[in-house]
Amino acid sequence: MTSLGTSGRRAAKTSFACTECGHETVRWEGRCAGCGAWDSLREWTEPVDRAMPPAYTAATPVALDQLVIGEERLSLGVPEFDRVLGGGLVPGSLVLIGGDPGIGKSTLVLQAAGSAAAQAPVLYVSAEESAAQVKMRAERLDLGDAKLLVLAETSLEAALRQADEIAPCLLVVDSVQTVFSEAAGTSAGSISQVRECAGMLMRWAKASGVPVVLTGHVTKDGDIAGPRMLEHVVDVVLYLEGERFSSYRLLRAVKNRFGSVDEIGVFEMTGSGLRGVENPSEAFIAERAAEPVGSVIVPVMEGTRPVLVEIQALTSPTVTPAPRRTANGLDSNRLTLVTAVLSRRLGVPLAGLDVIANVVGGLRVHEPAADLGLALAVCSSHRDEALPTNLVALGEVGLSGELRSVSHLERRLMEAERLGFERCLLPESTLHRQRPKTSIELVVAPDLRRALAIAFA
Ligand code: TYD
Ligand code: MG
Repeated sequence: MTSLGTSGRRAAKTSFACTECGHETVRWEGRCAGCGAWDSLREWTEPVDRAMPPAYTAATPVALDQLVIGEERLSLGVPEFDRVLGGGLVPGSLVLIGGDPGIGKSTLVLQAAGSAAAQAPVLYVSAEESAAQVKMRAERLDLGDAKLLVLAETSLEAALRQADEIAPCLLVVDSVQTVFSEAAGTSAGSISQVRECAGMLMRWAKASGVPVVLTGHVTKDGDIAGPRMLEHVVDVVLYLEGERFSSYRLLRAVKNRFGSVDEIGVFEMTGSGLRGVENPSEAFIAERAAEPVGSVIVPVMEGTRPVLVEIQALTSPTVTPAPRRTANGLDSNRLTLVTAVLSRRLGVPLAGLDVIANVVGGLRVHEPAADLGLALAVCSSHRDEALPTNLVALGEVGLSGELRSVSHLERRLMEAERLGFERCLLPESTLHRQRPKTSIELVVAPDLRRALAIAFA
């Protein structure tokens, strides 16, 4: 436990912290009590000789109606990025961008730094790459702005001294696992370093009013402290996601003190950096086959935004004793549920077949509203028969084969209509609650059996 010695310095504290969620315990446990992750606790010792934090500066209370909201948000000049932030960066905020290594975090922040530098100086602290490497990347991204200052530095204190001098309009630190602070004695990337650095950047951002963007790798093996630990420290947490071999990237907010977490940004990784995709639905269904056996289009909601995705399924005779159910981009539990309902309630003989389901374009769909589309895709592959190409499907499948209603119906239908679809198959119950204004023909079914009969009529 933390105790104060007579010298006013803290005694050493050894505890265990979870690399996934930051939960702390005094004893090592196989499973984190905070998030349930296995083998994620690592020992860490807070440095013995850390001086007490400075005394708090005296702030005076202000009546709420007297408070004025400060300057405007800083636009990053990357519209998809700005939108996910809720309209740009709030002065003095600390934003964390997490994601798998190689997903494009450095590319995204360098692009944003480059466009923000058109307005005022931006300091880009690269602790991972040399200045020359950053320059090479900047050339690929076609950034040549003189106001973008690159500092290859791993000491956070040194970087902040520079930042104090330059007074930039934006500070970027790439990445939280590679910078280190002299205040925390351990090596860069350790739990205490990551926390200390994030804390220092937070204090600097608040004191200077300059927004700070920080990147961090997500680690599955838990060797280095990941961004999950910092989620409660920073103001905004965004994740850049995507399938490894797909060029699409999604920027998603999981925490935002200054806006909603419903917005997503869609990008495509190109030879010259990340390009915002203005029309994601069009992009995701662009390569659909003319005779799409085993494929169904589903309007899913990504936050408040409807996006059309193509769900594909393939059934094939199994060669293993237990048939496999493989879901890429879909919740595997939903696939298990849908195939179980198809075999038990509708007698579709899937027992000896492997079922593979896939969302095209690397998007991840977790909505139960995609169940009906998934079931139709599986049946389409099983029957080797394509569904009408002008059809979209929506609905959650229940365990007895009933179809349950979905939310945001009108927005989904508008998006399908915009892309030229003419019919939507959906649960009967949905229309009891709402009568959407749409020119799409609405075909309703009470259960999966009826839905299949209509779709393959
Ligand atoms: P990077 O931004 O370095 O990823 P992170 O910082 O998240 O680790 O992106 C690395 C990948 O992006 C790399 O595989 C190369 C690719 N890339 C492009 O395809 N086009 C580009 O213009 C750039 C700069 C990178
Ligand atoms: Mg990087």
